[in-house]
Amino acid sequence: MSRRPIIAGNWKMHKTIAEALALVQEIKEAAAGCDGVEVAVCPPFTALAPVVEALRGTDIAVGAQNVHWEDKGAYTGEISPVMLRDAGCRYVIIGHSERRQYFGETDENVNRKVKAVFAQGLTPIMCVGETLAEREAGVTEKVVRTQTEAGLAALTGEQVAGMVIAYEPVWAIGTGKTASDEDAQQVISFIRGIVAGLYGDSAAGRVRIQYGGSVKPENAAGLMAKPDIDGALVGGASLEAASFTGIIRAVV
Ligand code: G3H
Repeated sequence: MSRRPIIAGNWKMHKTIAEALALVQEIKEAAAGCDGVEVAVCPPFTALAPVVEALRGTDIAVGAQNVHWEDKGAYTGEISPVMLRDAGCRYVIIGHSERRQYFGETDENVNRKVKAVFAQGLTPIMCVGETLAEREAGVTEKVVRTQTEAGLAALTGEQVAGMVIAYEPVWAIGTGKTASDEDAQQVISFIRGIVAGLYGDSAAGRVRIQYGGSVKPENAAGLMAKPDIDGALVGGASLEAASFTGIIRAVV
């Protein structure tokens, strides 16, 4: 089954509005014609609406980096799925390891957010991945299974087929250490198997599963050549147009 790869830039807590607009202008020009791959940028909340406006008329999608599961209410400092839809987002990153590590994100909250995002017609990019200690203890599959099963609980097969899962080994994030092409393929194939067990072969064949963790133009082609890897969730290298579009071009 052919799946269109998706390269998404997670800008994390970087870029003012002016910096964000300058970056998307460059990405827009450099990524023109890369039709075989879907491109998304995930700026901080403050830059979402201006970036959506700047990308209007292009195929580049915009995503948020987090969301609350309620549509509105007394949740100081939170942003709802309704607000993200209103701002023009298509994607929402949910359960990034930095949210899990620094902000107490649990598997249960990830699942609530995934369902809330779907309810507003947005698409989750749900992140899973093991820490270095977990990998060294030999429990990568157990950790990834728990996160994946909990995050996908009570969805429909059609929802799962249409979403994006990002496998991000925590030890490879921002460290310059990338999982080998084979290791990334092995875990991503394992995740696809979990989806097959939960939602059937059709959903498993259609869900896009990205790799994330120190992806750069130099290592992107090898990773993306693997049969189960459907793109990348890119952190540091998405902050410069040259490296981000270098990754996009490595895929097409
Ligand atoms: O969401 C992106 C990941 O955390 C990867 O970040 O490319 O800087 O390692 P990185």
